[in-house]
Amino acid sequence: MQKFITRNAGQTKSFAKKLAKDFKNGGIIALYGQLGAGKTTFTQGFAQGLGVLNKITSPTFLIIRQYSIPGQVNFFYHIDLYRLNNIDLKTSGLEEILNDLSNVVLIEWADKINESLPSQAKKISLKRVKEDIHEIVLTS
Ligand SMILES: Nc1ncnc2c1ncn2[C@@H]1O[C@H](COP(=O)(O)OP(=O)(O)O)[C@@H](O)[C@H]1O
Ligand SMILES: [Mg+2]
Repeated sequence: MQKFITRNAGQTKSFAKKLAKDFKNGGIIALYGQLGAGKTTFTQGFAQGLGVLNKITSPTFLIIRQYSIPGQVNFFYHIDLYRLNNIDLKTSGLEEILNDLSNVVLIEWADKINESLPSQAKKISLKRVKEDIHEIVLTS
């Protein structure tokens, strides 16, 4: 387990941006943490690191968003499971996305499908400790 402290949103983004370089050709990031922990902030940095040009927001209705990665044939999927419970991997289309190893997949509220996550998923927990202190914990 590795633990990092960030003191503003920019630092969380830079952390995620660096990490993304290792995921350009596929991989799964499972994000954990309460509302306001910094999951979407992390995702914005991660997408920047992939070179994704679109602005990343918190999905309100859509739970799966697909982004092109410039210069690459594979896609980046941002998945936010906040509003969902009892998720059926097959009918939701999640299974298909997770099974394609060339996909770069980042999941907010990954605990909601924890039992179904492929074992190679990188698990990252975020936590707001205080207003100016957020924690990033890499558990796998
Ligand atoms: N060190 C930090 N890391 C991440 N976000 C931070 C940090 N410090 C302050 N923030 C702020 O906390 C909020 C985190 O919100 P968000 O990323 O949407 O969280 P979540 O997706 O986990 O609900 C943002 O407004 C962000 O600017
Ligand atoms: Mg979010």
